Amino acid sequence: MSASEAPGGSLPAATVQAQAPDLGLPEEACLFTGPLDPCTLVIFGASGDLAGRKLLPALLSLFRQGALPTPFLVVGCARSEFTSDSFRAAMWEKLQAAGGADRAVWEDFAPRLHYLGFDYSSLASYVLLNNFLQELEREHPTQGNRIFYLAVPPSLYQEVALLLHQAGMAEQGVRGQGWARIVVEKPFGRDLASALELNRTLRQGFREEQIFRIDHYMAKETVQNVLIFRFANTIFEPLWHRHYIEQVGIIAAETLGVEQRASFYEETGVLRDMFQNHMLQLLALIAMEPPSLFESQRVRDEKAKVFRSLKPLEMPLPPGTVILGQYTAGEINGRRVPGYREEPGVSPDSLTPTFALLTAHLDNWRWQGVPFHLLSGKRLAQKLTRIVIQFREVPHSLFRNVHLGPIQPNRLVIGIHPEEAITLTFETKNPGALVCLRRVTMEFPYYQNYRGPILEAYEKSLLDVIQGDQMLFWRQDAVELAWQYLDPLIRACETCPDPARLLKFYPAGSWGPPEAAEVTGPWRG
Ligand code: BG6
Repeated sequence: MSASEAPGGSLPAATVQAQAPDLGLPEEACLFTGPLDPCTLVIFGASGDLAGRKLLPALLSLFRQGALPTPFLVVGCARSEFTSDSFRAAMWEKLQAAGGADRAVWEDFAPRLHYLGFDYSSLASYVLLNNFLQELEREHPTQGNRIFYLAVPPSLYQEVALLLHQAGMAEQGVRGQGWARIVVEKPFGRDLASALELNRTLRQGFREEQIFRIDHYMAKETVQNVLIFRFANTIFEPLWHRHYIEQVGIIAAETLGVEQRASFYEETGVLRDMFQNHMLQLLALIAMEPPSLFESQRVRDEKAKVFRSLKPLEMPLPPGTVILGQYTAGEINGRRVPGYREEPGVSPDSLTPTFALLTAHLDNWRWQGVPFHLLSGKRLAQKLTRIVIQFREVPHSLFRNVHLGPIQPNRLVIGIHPEEAITLTFETKNPGALVCLRRVTMEFPYYQNYRGPILEAYEKSLLDVIQGDQMLFWRQDAVELAWQYLDPLIRACETCPDPARLLKFYPAGSWGPPEAAEVTGPWRG
């Protein structure tokens, strides 16, 4: 088979058989490590989208798996007028809308759920909350352990954190009354200055060990697996650098548009929404050095070093460094969808990018000269999340007498969505009398031979907060380094005298602006 006849998608597959673990341990033994302290989870923004769509389903699923501590309570706080009973009824409806839930499990779980009407800007509300919690803690021995989850718009983060502190609730633990942790959703600021400001406020009451900056990408199974794949095997690491790797592609393509989040997205755009967090985390996992121990601080130290090595983007941007796009009307899965500017709540002349392809470089010994192409966009042809490690071509083709053209380089694909699988593509001899090359893929489907429970990203994140494990959460130094890298780019885009020149339009359902589709075509097969 000639190289040109070898489209990636239709390669013959040689399946790897995953061995069932035989450790003499129940599979669950590896899943829920460490003791789980009893605690109360306070969700600010409990009537909102995040709570209903992600947090409640995750909690219910953990509860069903017996993974939550005992006792475990949830207190929802929001402006909406609910009693605990009507809140439970509303949550049940949301759970059903989010894909159904087991009524019997819910009946068991629901009594753990409470509700308190809340005014985020009034200290009195926080004092009331503290009293409410103390009362619950007298009835249920949670040892005063509390998690405060900020599922509110980012504009409220500072106010809530400050008032929690003023009401004396950040200092749990210091006074020997159990621990307090605060969970903050991205975006952590909208640039370096605001991220510093947010952190200053958080730190008035909370210590860094109490702050959990969540990034659900880090908690995806196949993303967690990257470090195990790299550092629990000897055979990949010797190849894992510029001598053997030509380029790395990291794709997070979505078919979804902005949905109901136009006001958020107009302010954010793809660079703040996906790059400052998820995309750079994936890059860090691929590029980092091995930590001396699989432990939160050391893993995060190594990631911070990667961010520190990001080569600052040259200004003005050299051509091809970044391609920004915005979707126009098109078709997704056979359905007509409007363009970004026609979405409700979006300005008709919006210049917000919904797509970006950014080529990053790392200024360090291991990765000098290796491009990391990061691509993310909304309303693309397919929901596809993967990391593609493209190895170098063989230095010399001794098969040139039987094989026309170059030999395709090896490729390792870490599939995150829809395939959760690792595939390695390489050349073999095509069976038969003639000697010709055949490109094949060896595939490891991630869940092969695994029958234990599976944790969705929010489930894993919540469990880690309960356990106090910060490995899969952003540390402040990394947040700042990520902004330091992206700030000049975002500023250049937003202050460009001719922004229309920077922004390329692409029809919904395509692979982005044609210039980008050309670069990324080979990674999608
Ligand atoms: C979120 C972004 O962090 O990640 C969304 O704010 C995006 O805009 C989402 O849709 C993508 O997550 P996933 O897990 O579906 O790839």
